[in-house]
Amino acid sequence: MKLFKIEKFSLKNWLKFILIAVSVAGTIVLFGTIILHFSPESLYMQTATEPSPNSSPEVQVVDVPITPVTETSPEPSQKVQESPAPNSSTQAEPSPLLQRLPEAARRIGLLNPTSQNSEVDREEQKLVGGETAYGHFLYPPGHINRMVIISSYGARQYQRFEYLHPEAAKALMNMIYTARDEGVWLVPVSGFRTFELQEELFKAQIQRRGSVEAAAKVSAPPGYSEHHTGFAIDLTDGNFPKKDITIDFENTKAFQWLTRHAQKFGFELSFPPNNSQGVSYEPWHWRYIGSPEAAATFAQARKF
Ligand code: DAL
Ligand code: ZN
Repeated sequence: MKLFKIEKFSLKNWLKFILIAVSVAGTIVLFGTIILHFSPESLYMQTATEPSPNSSPEVQVVDVPITPVTETSPEPSQKVQESPAPNSSTQAEPSPLLQRLPEAARRIGLLNPTSQNSEVDREEQKLVGGETAYGHFLYPPGHINRMVIISSYGARQYQRFEYLHPEAAKALMNMIYTARDEGVWLVPVSGFRTFELQEELFKAQIQRRGSVEAAAKVSAPPGYSEHHTGFAIDLTDGNFPKKDITIDFENTKAFQWLTRHAQKFGFELSFPPNNSQGVSYEPWHWRYIGSPEAAATFAQARKF
């Protein structure tokens, strides 16, 4: 049976022809899209735990402000805090964590073991190697195996997963869903970070800002980030992606909601304006203090 006669292309036959052509093209496009979307390669091109900073213009990673903090707010006026002397018990028998610190600092060029005695090195020794570095506290590193996935961010090759400690994750989910019921869209963009990821971020800030001191205003040296604990989270407003990780985030409904309600869920702002650690104001960075372990983790920083 012929669908239409080639030699007699009536209007009806033309319409049939167009209809068939459109159906075939539509089917091909549909299958193509499905295959691309669900192929394992497209879902897992980047590993979940080691997102590369600045991997996509609209998916900026974390504490690397899209616009420099100094463009939207003046640098805090306080001086960088000097580290307290290690207490006697750690001097007698340094913990493995403290032993690791000078090595970590050397790896990123904060300490130079070959040139001792210079004025600069002595100053640096005072700032790094104790329980604080450039105003940031030393944190026991969490392990990815102790964390749970809280969100997926970005798409395709830029997709990454964020992790938190289960206690913080539970409280965060509760907070996100409560906010959603009140018309507020909280988006978690950076949770648990490995030492290596923080090192990458910190180095990028040194490049960008020209010195370790300037970098430490906006990023913690590796080993000293609250993000290592799995109890800190950077939050944004899903309706204002351009304000992600910028001071302007404070002008969003999400931030205003957080300032009123976060405490009830166990979260507090780590770096408010003019904080005594001398770190730049970070309206997006919240830490969980709602469980005994979380509260103990940040006890020193909260007393400061
Ligand atoms: N931006 C905060 C200080 C961090 O890097 O942990
Ligand atoms: Zn943060």
